[in-house]
Order: sequence, then structure tokens, then C-alpha cells
Amino acid sequence: MDKAADNPGPIGVFDSGIGGLTVFREIAARLPEYDFVYLGDNARVPYGTRSFDTVYHYTWECVQHLFRMGSRLVVIACNTASAKALRTIQQRDLVTMDKLYRVLGVIRPTTEIVGMHSNTRHVGILATQGTVTSMSYVIEINKFFPDIKVWQEACPMWVPLVEANEHTSPGADYFVKKNVTNLLEKSPEIDTIILGCTHYPLLIDKIRQFLPKEIKLLVQGPIVADSLADYLQRHPEIDALCTRGGTRTFYTTESTEDFDNKAQRFLGTRVESRHLQL
Ligand code: DGL
Repeated sequence: MDKAADNPGPIGVFDSGIGGLTVFREIAARLPEYDFVYLGDNARVPYGTRSFDTVYHYTWECVQHLFRMGSRLVVIACNTASAKALRTIQQRDLVTMDKLYRVLGVIRPTTEIVGMHSNTRHVGILATQGTVTSMSYVIEINKFFPDIKVWQEACPMWVPLVEANEHTSPGADYFVKKNVTNLLEKSPEIDTIILGCTHYPLLIDKIRQFLPKEIKLLVQGPIVADSLADYLQRHPEIDALCTRGGTRTFYTTESTEDFDNKAQRFLGTRVESRHLQL
């Protein structure tokens, strides 16, 4: 890593596209004094249909870019990348680096608290094909709450709908209804559903439309924000590597204009992203 790595820097937030903004928005609100840099790999979204190897290489490449931008702590605000790349990055890549770098994901904070929400002990997961195939949610929930039965449904069309800005269109109803109905058919006892993809909160109104009212929907943004605040408190050595100037910087690997329009609509503030050439 380059010289900048000797200094503290902004907290990095990474996603394959704009979905990670649902996590970014919550953590930036929870930790307003910290600097943040967001990177969306919009040029290569979706990750959810790609192989383990590809997701790992894309993710590690983007995380290294964030390190070069000065980040010492990176949050992978993407379930697919957390499922398919995080462990390798933590266990194989970070250990070879001579400075203190940390990379955190979004699956663990979510699985740690899900047991507090379910009475029936039947939990549903809506996620990308990649996250479902990895079995990460099943394995992780089982570690914390072995009595919980986990039911999964892959929703391969949902991320493309969000990235194409079609998530509020009537056409999206077909796919949302189909996947939500499929999941509930797997177990009528499901009382809690995790939106296991950071793009999905953008579809939340449609998802609720096809769900019985009593089923709880868990959205990751606030959960990850609480978990990150707690992490920084428990790790003062990492906290000291995060600068506090209240700045927010955005990078995209695709068109900045497209990213700014989507991000502005979503965050409610004007965004001027920079382009990152891969
Ligand atoms: N936001 C990513 C996630 O949480 C979307 C993955 C994709 O690019 O398909 O899984």
C-alpha cells in the first residue's frame, strides 16, 4: 500500500452499485462527525449472478481502491460480496498487510440480532442468487440461534430493477409478488424476513404490499449502523484511524451523471460523484 496508508482516513463503504447507499445513509446519520467515502461498482453490477471467484476479485479490487483513497476501515455494504469475498479478504489478504486495515460485512450484524425478532423461529431470507447459494445466512444464523429454521428465496431480477430505476414501476410488481409468494410458500410459519440485499429497501413498499401485515421486515441499514458504532467503541485503535471532518465523497466506476441522479433521488441531497477508472 502507498504512503497515505500511514495516516488515518475516511471510513470506506462499498457496494456493487447504489444499494449500499441504504446502509451508507444510516451509518453516516449515526456517525455524522466521521468522514466517509462511498464506492459503487456500477460498471459491473450485478454481482449476485457471478461466480465466487469473480465476486472476490471485483470486491478485493474495489476495497484496495478505498485503501488507496486513505480508508483504513471499509464496510462492505453488499451481502453478495460479504457472502462470497469477505472471509477470504479477512483471512488471506489483510493478514499479509503490514498496516492495520479492517474490512467488515453486513451479514454478521444482521444474523446476530435476528433471534430477538422471531417468535415462530421461522425466518425468511430474500437475497441475490449468490448470497442464497453461499448459504451464509443459514450458517451464520445457525451459529447464533440453532433453533431457528431459515428459508431462502433468490430474487435475481430485483437488483437489475433497482439499478435500472424501474423499482417503482408496475412492471416490478410481477417479480416482487412472485418471489415474496414463493418464500411464504416454503413455510407459512415465517414471521420475520431479512432483506438480505442492500438494494432491496428501495423495493420495500412493493414488498409490503404482498406480505401479511404481521410479518416483520428487517432492513439492514440501521442494524449495520448500530453495529459499526459499537465496533468503533470496542476498538479504539481502529477508531483512531478514522478521520472526523464530516465529509462525504462518492465514487462510481460508471457514469457519474447516472450515479448522481440516482443517489440524489435516494439520499435527498445533491451528490457530485467522481469517476473511478478500474
Ligand atoms: N447490494 C448487493 C447485495 O447486498 C447487490 C448485489 C448485486 O450486485 O447483485 O447483495
